[in-house]
Amino acid sequence: MARRIVIAGNWKMNKTVSEAVELAKAVVAKASEAPANVDLIVSPTYVCLTEVAKVVAGTRVALGAQDMHWEESGAFTGKISAAMLVSAGVKYVILGHSEQRQYFGETDETVNKKTRQALKHNLIPIVCVGELLAEREAAKTNEVNERQLKGAYAGISAEDAAKTVIAYEPVWAIGTGKVATVEQAQEAQAFIRKVLTGLYGAAVAEIIPIQYGGSMKPDNAKGLLAQKDIDGGLIGGASLKAEDFIGIALGA
Ligand code: 13P
Repeated sequence: MARRIVIAGNWKMNKTVSEAVELAKAVVAKASEAPANVDLIVSPTYVCLTEVAKVVAGTRVALGAQDMHWEESGAFTGKISAAMLVSAGVKYVILGHSEQRQYFGETDETVNKKTRQALKHNLIPIVCVGELLAEREAAKTNEVNERQLKGAYAGISAEDAAKTVIAYEPVWAIGTGKVATVEQAQEAQAFIRKVLTGLYGAAVAEIIPIQYGGSMKPDNAKGLLAQKDIDGGLIGGASLKAEDFIGIALGA
């Protein structure tokens, strides 16, 4: 079975509610241009989820969130639970993004707890992994990705792992305009699939979509998406313009 191509916009801390609704409408209006084997996702901030949910309802665009907490509920000021996301119409949740790791104390252990909790609530986790520039320069790319991957999937069954999506985001390529070369991205992602094969066997590893993320744009998407182990994109900056976001999907 061919893997699905998953093109997801991560809007990060951008757009007010009315701006998010406007952007979602523009994405929905262009969504039919994307090839049929592509799954489209938009991930606004929490406060925009319910309004954007109304815009994407009944369309081929699905709703994603940018993070969640691993507990069911309780005294966790500022946090959002999996059940709350589900109740807002969310289908996917981005977990372990490098900005969460760098600025907000995310660890492999918290990514694991969140991934398990998301799966428990039938949310599809988009599990992010990726090395820092210093780690790549020290030839530790594979080591870092393997550690993050094994950390995130600890104790998760093959059946559950098969429902997830992975995003390989080399940290040095995020928001910098420095896209990884197609060779660098393919090499890292083939390695990630090898680790998945070791954990879950080839059949499961073959169906998990692995996205590339980091300065992906319409003009570099086609080359990246043509690679054997690149099954989509997790897109920051370029997802804030409907035309660019759909332009990336056209490369699939
Ligand atoms: P940019 O596309 O802005 O580099 O961001 C990538 C990213 O972090 C998506 O999660």
